[in-house]
Amino acid sequence: MVTSPPYPMIAMWDELFRADPAIGKLWNKLDSDGDEATVRKIYDTMHEDLGKVWTETHRVLCDGGIAAINIGDATRNINGKFQLFPNHSRITEVCEKIGFTSLPYILWKKPTNKPSYKGKGAFLGSGFLPPNAYVTLDCEFILLFRKGKLRKFPPHDKQRYDSVFTKKQRDEWFSQIWALKGTRQTVSELERRTAAYPEEIAERLIKMFSIKGETVLDPFLGSGTTTKTAMLSDRNSFGYEVDRKLLQTINTKVASAKNSQSIIEIIDREAGKR
Ligand SMILES: C[S@@+](CC[C@H](N)C(=O)[O-])C[C@H]1O[C@@H](n2cnc3c(N)ncnc32)[C@H](O)[C@@H]1O
Repeated sequence: MVTSPPYPMIAMWDELFRADPAIGKLWNKLDSDGDEATVRKIYDTMHEDLGKVWTETHRVLCDGGIAAINIGDATRNINGKFQLFPNHSRITEVCEKIGFTSLPYILWKKPTNKPSYKGKGAFLGSGFLPPNAYVTLDCEFILLFRKGKLRKFPPHDKQRYDSVFTKKQRDEWFSQIWALKGTRQTVSELERRTAAYPEEIAERLIKMFSIKGETVLDPFLGSGTTTKTAMLSDRNSFGYEVDRKLLQTINTKVASAKNSQSIIEIIDREAGKR
């Protein structure tokens, strides 16, 4: 599995998490009582909801299969209190409880191009005076988990040997910090709103952790990056997306990777159409 879920406590995903009535009720409660404990409950419930997807992923992955989850932490000012919501550690905790084994993770370091104000840069807090300034979040995580034991293959398995990577790829891909640009400049407004990751992220992960002909799952498909990249990497894929507005974007992205061998099936559950 290669995916990037909606990020808990990042404002752009609030509306989507509110689809869970329990979360909607908690936000309303917070608006009326400003209770700090309610903030915790909202955050807990968001991770419980994501946890259902990690549980299902664990069920459908093959034995030894890898789950790669791109997630960013969130910082937020709620009722005058600035704080960090460390989504990466919550997801790690939940996945370990489900039965996944944690593996060394990747830090995706995005270039920071923050506007500067009077030469100060846009760091949060009190400028040059200690102690109340905050560190900027300029890395996201790519968490890696394994289901069960190491995968085993027959000696000289052809499919596996056909999926070999080069030394240069091995050295780059298996180092812990990936300094890659985000997609901001290169994608449509709709893709920006769904926080698409660069194709290179999906491509590296697919080629690192699956072999040609295998199947990659993305339970939070967004604009379709994982499926497009899986096709270009000679893998099959399944993707799920809840937002119908993305259907056209997914269609276009996936069609751009199509070749004479491709079989694409898009099921629009709401319209009951295939
Ligand atoms: C961070 S975006 C994924 C972006 C994707 N990696 C890309 O490159 O375009 C998360 C996506 O998950 C979708 N989503 C949220 N909840 C979902 C659910 N329950 N089932 C399926 N998709 C969901 C959102 O609509 C959003 O498009």
